[in-house]
Amino acid sequence: MKEQKITTSFEVYPDLEALPVEAKFLMQKAIAAREDAYAPYSKFKVGAAVALENGVYVIGSNQENAAYPTGLCAERVAVFSAGANHPGVSITQIAITASASDYELKEPVTSCGACRQALLEYEHKQESPIEIFFMGASGSVVKTKSVGNLLPLNFNSSFL
Ligand code: THU
Repeated sequence: MKEQKITTSFEVYPDLEALPVEAKFLMQKAIAAREDAYAPYSKFKVGAAVALENGVYVIGSNQENAAYPTGLCAERVAVFSAGANHPGVSITQIAITASASDYELKEPVTSCGACRQALLEYEHKQESPIEIFFMGASGSVVKTKSVGNLLPLNFNSSFL
């Protein structure tokens, strides 16, 4: 038996203002998208903004449903929309922000497992890393340099 270790690292920015200018712009788009989320059941709004290599931005927000599992997270709304509307154009960065209706969410909120898997697909398809920035409603912002960095030991198309 041999123990193996996987290490990961991420960057932490103290707040939105500390982000590089392009990332701040992208996060502002995610904040605007978040405000339009359709989240009447959880009252937990999430916004995502995707930056494409050609300078186009695609936004998404969580879309809930009375039949709960039918709804979709903001991240998947955004990347599926990018994939459908801009096929073959690589994603460079994604900004994600979340807010709760009954308390001030000051911690970065990171994507659920299903969204990590969905995002990973695009990173593998385009063969280049996607940087992701996560923020709550306010407070610090966490940056990861790739989706793979968020999902070690993942399942991907190389196994098929
Ligand atoms: N949600 C997202 O949009 N992204 C995530 O990564 C986690 C959760 C949404 C789904 C649901 O509408 C609400 O947040 C509460 O789970």
